[in-house]
Amino acid sequence: MASSSLPLSTVVFFTVFFFTCALIPLTGSLPFVVLHGISDSCKGKGVARFTELLSNWSGSTGYCIEIGDGSWDSWTMSLMEQMEIACKKVKSISELSEGFNFVGLSQGNMVGRGILEFCDGAPPVKNFISLAGPHAGIASVPFCGSGLVCIIVDALLEREVYSKYVQEHLAPSNYVKVPTDISNYLKSCKYLPKLNNEIKATSNSTYKERFASLENLVLIMFEKDTVLVPKETSWFGYYPDGAFDPILPAQETELYIEDWIGLKTLDEAGKVKFINVSGGHLDISESDMKKYILPYLKDQESEEITTA
Ligand SMILES: *[C@@H]1O[C@H](CO)[C@@H](O)[C@H](O)[C@H]1NC(C)=O
Ligand SMILES: *[C@@H]1O[C@H](CO)[C@@H](O)[C@H](O)[C@H]1NC(C)=O
Ligand SMILES: *[C@@H]1O[C@H](CO)[C@@H](O)[C@H](O)[C@H]1NC(C)=O
Repeated sequence: MASSSLPLSTVVFFTVFFFTCALIPLTGSLPFVVLHGISDSCKGKGVARFTELLSNWSGSTGYCIEIGDGSWDSWTMSLMEQMEIACKKVKSISELSEGFNFVGLSQGNMVGRGILEFCDGAPPVKNFISLAGPHAGIASVPFCGSGLVCIIVDALLEREVYSKYVQEHLAPSNYVKVPTDISNYLKSCKYLPKLNNEIKATSNSTYKERFASLENLVLIMFEKDTVLVPKETSWFGYYPDGAFDPILPAQETELYIEDWIGLKTLDEAGKVKFINVSGGHLDISESDMKKYILPYLKDQESEEITTA
């Protein structure tokens, strides 16, 4: 029957229509936000190049969000203050209003998770890509080096890490979790216990709901990382309370088992990617960036259509 075969003009019409549809999501692909690590700044060559590469490859706009002056404030401003500044900035960038993907470098992950969990009225975070994030805490403050700020850091470290003064003036103290000093940690550490919903009396289900709403959580650990102790904290692994041994995998920690922040929920839904790359702290190759970060920054719909 003649009527059952499609006239050529209709085929052309449908083809054109199909490609037009497929291109729309590409132009509207989601922007991403980068938050750098300690001692760094958005103007720093490494971070600037990292953001530009990801932006060039993905075709999505990347925003490196600076907190204060960058390097100095990354050490000396408390994480709660850093989070509040980043929260305001994210809300003020209109291009982010439909949501964004997040790429965190080291300490930047602490601030990024704060935006996700604490920042009321912030646009939704879709994919959260973490490079060397100290998610479950670190056992000691990372080595600072020899700059002026490090003289101050060293002076602060002479004091008790959970003292009010140190907590207010030394950012990494806000996620130091000394396994043999858990009661002081829970009582006086000013950021991580809240971020991880560790204190039953003040735990807030909103943080869990927001964390569990992620589309994907990509946790990249660096095999030769000596800055984060233990490096497994990048995968939410940590020491048990009371001892420096053994290092528990995420799935054996209370945070996971009791699902304090929705990590288990996400994992059971297949949304957590545990990635292991060779190299030291934040030392990622371009091919690993393409393999493990890029897929989450490209528009998922247009990806599906082009590969279909
Ligand atoms: C990104 O693309 C622009 C424009 O093509 C180019 O000038 C720039 O060098 C690229 N950046 C990197 C880091 O490759
Ligand atoms: C939980 O956190 C949300 C978000 O910050 C806040 O709006 C809410 O008031 C908190 N709930 C309690 C019981 O503190
Ligand atoms: C990470 O990868 C290295 C090399 O591929 C391997 O030796 C190591 O056991 C892996 N670590 C984990 C925790 O899977």
